[in-house]
Amino acid sequence: MIGRLNHVAIAVPDLAAAVAQYRDTLGASVGAPQDEPAHGVTVVFVELPNTKIELLYPLGEGSPIAGFLQKNPAGGIHHICYEVDDIFAARDRLTTAGARVLGSGEPRIGAHGKPVLFLHPKDFNGCLVELEQV
Ligand code: CO
Repeated sequence: MIGRLNHVAIAVPDLAAAVAQYRDTLGASVGAPQDEPAHGVTVVFVELPNTKIELLYPLGEGSPIAGFLQKNPAGGIHHICYEVDDIFAARDRLTTAGARVLGSGEPRIGAHGKPVLFLHPKDFNGCLVELEQV
């Protein structure tokens, strides 16, 4: 059911330093920071030949990334995102199998302008999983 790895999202405590590291030290193609107020994050997309890395930094009050960085002050992998063809079919299959969808259970429009869902990390080996319909 799941398709390609769309991205790996990394929460970072210092966005400028992370951008410089990916661009200058790792030699990656790094985009400009984009504020996503609906998601409480500023995102920088790093384009790799086979997938993307998203550098996430807290934006505004109550950002989900702020709590993560409190627990992981050096930063860390926040979630991984798999592509699916039909997000409603994917959701129904997963909830039937007992997996928990975060929030209302309805897809939201994610940072790429496509419908996304998040699955509870406790149901996926401690990894927060995002599904994106492509
Ligand atoms: Co994501």
